Amino acid sequence: MRSQVVIVGAGPSGLLLGQLLYRAGVDAIILERQSPEYVLGRIRAGVLEQVTLNILSEIGVDERLHKEGLVHTGFDLLFKGKRHRIDLAGLTGGQKVMVYGQTEVTRDLMAARQAAGLKTIYEATDVEIHDFDGKHPSVRFSKDGQRHTITCDFIAGCDGFHGVCRASVPKRSIKEYEKIYPFGWLGVLSDTPPVHEELIYVNSSRGFALCSQRSHTRSRYYLQVPLTDQVEKWSDTAFWSELRLRLDPAASEQLVSGPSIEKSIAPLRSFVAEPMRFGSLFLAGDAAHIVPPTGAKGLNLAATDVKYLSDALIEACIEKSQAGIDHYSSRCLARVWRAERFSWWFTSLMHSFPDQGEIGQKLQEAELEYLTISPSGSRTIAENYVGLPLNFGD
Ligand code: APR
Ligand code: PHB
Repeated sequence: MRSQVVIVGAGPSGLLLGQLLYRAGVDAIILERQSPEYVLGRIRAGVLEQVTLNILSEIGVDERLHKEGLVHTGFDLLFKGKRHRIDLAGLTGGQKVMVYGQTEVTRDLMAARQAAGLKTIYEATDVEIHDFDGKHPSVRFSKDGQRHTITCDFIAGCDGFHGVCRASVPKRSIKEYEKIYPFGWLGVLSDTPPVHEELIYVNSSRGFALCSQRSHTRSRYYLQVPLTDQVEKWSDTAFWSELRLRLDPAASEQLVSGPSIEKSIAPLRSFVAEPMRFGSLFLAGDAAHIVPPTGAKGLNLAATDVKYLSDALIEACIEKSQAGIDHYSSRCLARVWRAERFSWWFTSLMHSFPDQGEIGQKLQEAELEYLTISPSGSRTIAENYVGLPLNFGD
């Protein structure tokens, strides 16, 4: 088989890249290790920045999200038992975010790819990438017991944190930066009405909590838990009563509990691999970086990586220019590190760290008090949360 581009991974990054390349007439095959059902079974954050919405509307995959997505112009910070609203729109000249589950973004991208009759090979196993630092890159994989080879011009590593592409780069050619947080997020999805119309981020001496949502009838809640906790040990009853203890009295009163339809514990890490390009191999999304979910940056970072990558590959395939692909890594990393910084900072501000002592809680509360009283303090949270402009710092 032959294709101009082989995309490894059919998560949001791979699917979005496939659609952007298709629109420009560049052919790309996607190889995905799992089944479509498995990919859609992943429950992930769903706060879309305007930049991400613009990319989705550019490829015409924004109809359902504008019908079903929830436009949010602010969120609450809860600390010392009181809620303080961060007025995103008022602090950023009208910018807002869209709450729309990542699963739904993936579903919409899958549907668009299928409607265009584009090739995605699901349950493609033992993927290997070859000669990406040479002149004849190729990708090998197994499907239904047969081994196949695709020769190509470029390989897009959209295969997430545990994928094969980054792992195939020689250690001498890549630098990895990592910070693992000493706690996890216990998440619950429930068919209950959200406790509040906007998100509530909670700093409590008992630990962080987050009240989010998927629709007016489906809620998503998180509790900071020790890394040693196992999800089996957390009954629904225990989850709801702990969440109530971390909320303010009004929210605790308003909270509607119900059976969890999904319950899991996820670790938190900050991770960046540099560079993001190795010859004809390009890493994008979680394959290249991971952020703690506090700032809801993961999907949005993946979207801008893929926008930069599609521009570069289109230029290389159509105009035969190398400029975009030569600039890809540095262009992405400037944005990646800004999002990593905000996600780390917000995580450090809102969570209870094992070694922080009582003074640590007091210092966090003092910082939160300053940030919510000072207009410039609130603005720094708001402008990072809605997403810094693509030309920031130019
Ligand atoms: N061969 C083929 N496919 C693979 C391989 C492999 N060796 N390894 C991983 N994959 C697939 C996974 O099954 C997954 O479907 O690559 C896909 C990677 O998707 P994601 O992990 O969702 O990463 P990405 O598409 O970059 O999306 C980033 O996902 O984790 C969240 O917060 C993150 O919102 C962000 C988004
Ligand atoms: C979610 O809805 O899953 C979500 C929202 C905001 C975050 C993290 C997760 O910061």
